[in-house]
Amino acid sequence: MADSSRAQKLDLVFQHIRNVPDFPVKGIVFKDICPILKEPKALSAVIDLFEEHVRKNHPHTELIVGVDARGFLFGPLLAQRLGIGFVLVRKKGKLPGPTVSVTYALEYATAEAEIQVDAVQAGQNVLIIDDLLATGGTLQAACELLKKQKAQVLGCLVVIELKDLGGAEKLPVPVFSLLQC
Ligand code: PRP
Ligand code: ADE
Repeated sequence: MADSSRAQKLDLVFQHIRNVPDFPVKGIVFKDICPILKEPKALSAVIDLFEEHVRKNHPHTELIVGVDARGFLFGPLLAQRLGIGFVLVRKKGKLPGPTVSVTYALEYATAEAEIQVDAVQAGQNVLIIDDLLATGGTLQAACELLKKQKAQVLGCLVVIELKDLGGAEKLPVPVFSLLQC
């Protein structure tokens, strides 16, 4: 992709993120990605940019793992574009069958994440995707779950990285973010 095309796509994505002050609690500026989903060109831009990164840096990726809930919005589209499968990491109690789980802390809450034990095979090369990296607790939990399943986590993909919260430093793998705030 030409640099000018990449810059245009990044700008389009940026223009479709809405800042919502004091949501869900006072002091948090919530980054709302809903406008991206409402504009097909912006959504395509997100997938184009992720696809370019994965093809160039992680060509042996076998699975995309999406994090509940907003990782589910981008992950299946990316996986389909790449011609590979998509797997869910869900909040506790939502997945049937045998699962493994971990608890984790969020910017404004705590939660527990789960994956089905047969979702990923030992040694499989996976990338984890979510809309946003804040404290890193969520992606750290997803990495832990995949480690329990003996998968090979190659990296994490997010649309937005809140740099000041230092989430990337907590993670055992590199993070690729489209936008840094
Ligand atoms: C948000 C966001 C990430 C996570 C990032 O999800 O979509 O998954 O927080 O925060 P962290 O880096 O501090 O862990 P949230 O837990 O609000 O759940 P939702 O997607 O179900 O709204
Ligand atoms: N998850 C954690 N912090 C967030 C924020 N500031 N905006 C959107 N999602 C978030």
